[in-house]
Amino acid sequence: MKATAKAPANIAFIKYWGKKDEKLRLPANDSISMNLSNVFTITTVEFSEKIKKDIIIMDEHKFDEKEEKRISSHLDLIRDLARFKSFARVKTKNNFPKGSGIASSASGFAALTMAGVAAAGLKLNEKHLSIIARQGSGSACRSIPDGFVEWKSGTSSNNSYAHMIFPPNWWKIIDVLVIVEKKTKKVSSSEGHILTASSPFYKSRISGIKNKLTVIKKAILDRDFEIFGTILEGEAINMHAVMMTSTPPIFYWTPVTFELILTVRGWREEGILVYFTIDAGANVHLICQEKDKQKVIGCLKGMKGIKEVILNQPAIGTRLINKHLF
Ligand code: PMV
Repeated sequence: MKATAKAPANIAFIKYWGKKDEKLRLPANDSISMNLSNVFTITTVEFSEKIKKDIIIMDEHKFDEKEEKRISSHLDLIRDLARFKSFARVKTKNNFPKGSGIASSASGFAALTMAGVAAAGLKLNEKHLSIIARQGSGSACRSIPDGFVEWKSGTSSNNSYAHMIFPPNWWKIIDVLVIVEKKTKKVSSSEGHILTASSPFYKSRISGIKNKLTVIKKAILDRDFEIFGTILEGEAINMHAVMMTSTPPIFYWTPVTFELILTVRGWREEGILVYFTIDAGANVHLICQEKDKQKVIGCLKGMKGIKEVILNQPAIGTRLINKHLF
């Protein structure tokens, strides 16, 4: 059987950076994210007894050997569950640059999981799909449920999964995603997670997370944008401080990233309520309310070094779709 899934990328407001179990991808802490409406992956999977190995194709960028192995290992999880050994034909496409810190592994593994499971003829619930997606890429488990999502770190594979905490229409906030770098980053997030413990600030980061989770959940519940923005921006800086103080240090920002950070602070002083967050990459997510969207876009006009701007609102999670890629 052939199945196709469409999965959104997600942006974390409270980040996952560091694991307590490397192999199972159990995160050191809980995290909270929002699915993005306009950055997504579509993947078609078909298992066939006629092929002698997995055939994995991606539009534009080709996968390297390491990535192909990671995808095949993920398909093995599905094959084991379905109790068969057939190889798969996989075709996938992103509508955004891969490996540049826009959660391509999140949407990629979420789409692969849902399409693969359906193609294998399995019917699994959302929790189970999230558990499987997590084993491909941690943040992928958050792209399965709808809207605003929490990933409970858990203590074992069976209780480390994501669930919706608020539906997409709960709060019409906007993520103005500013692409300043389309090239694949030099240090992948998988490599970065391993380095976290070497930062002298890591322990203090972890001890502060619980309180941030409580405050940000209440801010989303109350739709209190100022508290929400203050927490998410401080959290991004905190995670990047750990990255920059790991051994060896990781610097994901470019001069344009930093210029945007400083500019956003200036806009706030002028009364535009906008906050930034950044994942493991150089690209900047500007989070604002619907009423300030046009002002933010206007402010970006004429700024040097911006390659593309993608507007997102809170979105549904991963779904099966009927339009196959082959
Ligand atoms: O799922 P990974 O291994 O690509 O890690 C994602 C890490 C961050 O994007 C930096 C943070 C997060 O919680 O999404």
